[in-house]
Amino acid sequence: MARLINAALIAKIHSIEWTPAILPNRALHSGLQANWFGLLTNIFKTGRQRKTLAEFNVRNPEMGGLVGNRLNKNGHPFGFAEEFVEVYRLHSLLPETIDIRRIANQEQIEKIPFVETRQAGSPKLTEKVGLLDLSYSFGRQLPGKLVLNNFPKFMQEMSVPGNPLFDLGAVDILRARERGVPRYNKFRRQLTLNPIRAFEDLTGDVKVVERLKEVYEDKPEDIEKLDLMIGTLAEEHRPKGYGFGETMFQIFILNASRRLQADRFYTTNYNEETYSKEGLKWIDDSSFKTVLLRHYPELGETGLENVKNAFEPWDTGERLDKKRHPIREYDRELKPDPMLGDSYRQSR
Ligand code: HEM
Repeated sequence: MARLINAALIAKIHSIEWTPAILPNRALHSGLQANWFGLLTNIFKTGRQRKTLAEFNVRNPEMGGLVGNRLNKNGHPFGFAEEFVEVYRLHSLLPETIDIRRIANQEQIEKIPFVETRQAGSPKLTEKVGLLDLSYSFGRQLPGKLVLNNFPKFMQEMSVPGNPLFDLGAVDILRARERGVPRYNKFRRQLTLNPIRAFEDLTGDVKVVERLKEVYEDKPEDIEKLDLMIGTLAEEHRPKGYGFGETMFQIFILNASRRLQADRFYTTNYNEETYSKEGLKWIDDSSFKTVLLRHYPELGETGLENVKNAFEPWDTGERLDKKRHPIREYDRELKPDPMLGDSYRQSR
């Protein structure tokens, strides 16, 4: 039961905190909150008043939320498809160094090369720095951008068991090819999105277009050879705030809902009998931030205190602006509708 509760909390944090943090956009934010809680709960309740299981069950998944609602496998057994694996290769998010900061001296940074934090280096690092200061460091460091020419250098010359020299940048592309995942244009057609007709459709960056032509194009039809990952990283047009573009988004959003809706533990069996009353309350009352603070109350003395979504940078002072903290703004907007009186709200 404890394992189910933890898994559900991770699923909740992933749905309503992590995904809105990589796609910080007002519509996406309320859409994903509604995915978990349902539009009705999301509109009428706020903060801890929001319960995954509403007092009365609304069968419509948009209104009532996916979790605790009807199981729906859409006619197929659920499993993540290779398309999902391919769009989740987010290795460009990783930085070249881990910037270690200590709570005792928050602005001093010690840069540790990423490779030194892997394999045998990992226990040495946790011993030297400790999980409290490591958590704080992760809260302060930003990830890399999901764009071309930003693949971590250390990952292009990694060593993995069985392979002393391993170029993950090349392997990421190779795997999609050998597993038969369609190239960029075919992938888009299969999603009923328009294919590109020229590299210029992807980006206005002249240098990137030139390089793409150099690598892929001998004849105009060679555009069909453009690899999925290269195409998605090159997409310049992205909805406001999005860390990636629409091709990847289609797969992300479909699976964000499906993995909940097709799992009995988030639908038919999301009840007191399976999770216990305390378990359901635990999931409702917890967030990434409360989990961190439960383990390390000292983090409450840092910039973590200033954010609700712990995936936003743990900033203080001037850095707490709207640009670096869009979700802080959206969370504030999740208030009950002021046009409705308290008695109406309580009766829901
Ligand atoms: C220290 C950090 C990481 C290292 C060393 C690492 C390394 C690797 C390696 C060695 C592979 C297998 C390559 C092969 O097919 O032979 C792989 C696959 C993969 N990685 Fe990472 N990775 C890291 C972080 C991440 C992150 C942060 C994400 C996404 C958020 C990610 C997503 C994936 C995915 C989706 C695959 C393909 C899995 C599959 O084939 O089923 N990785 N990674």
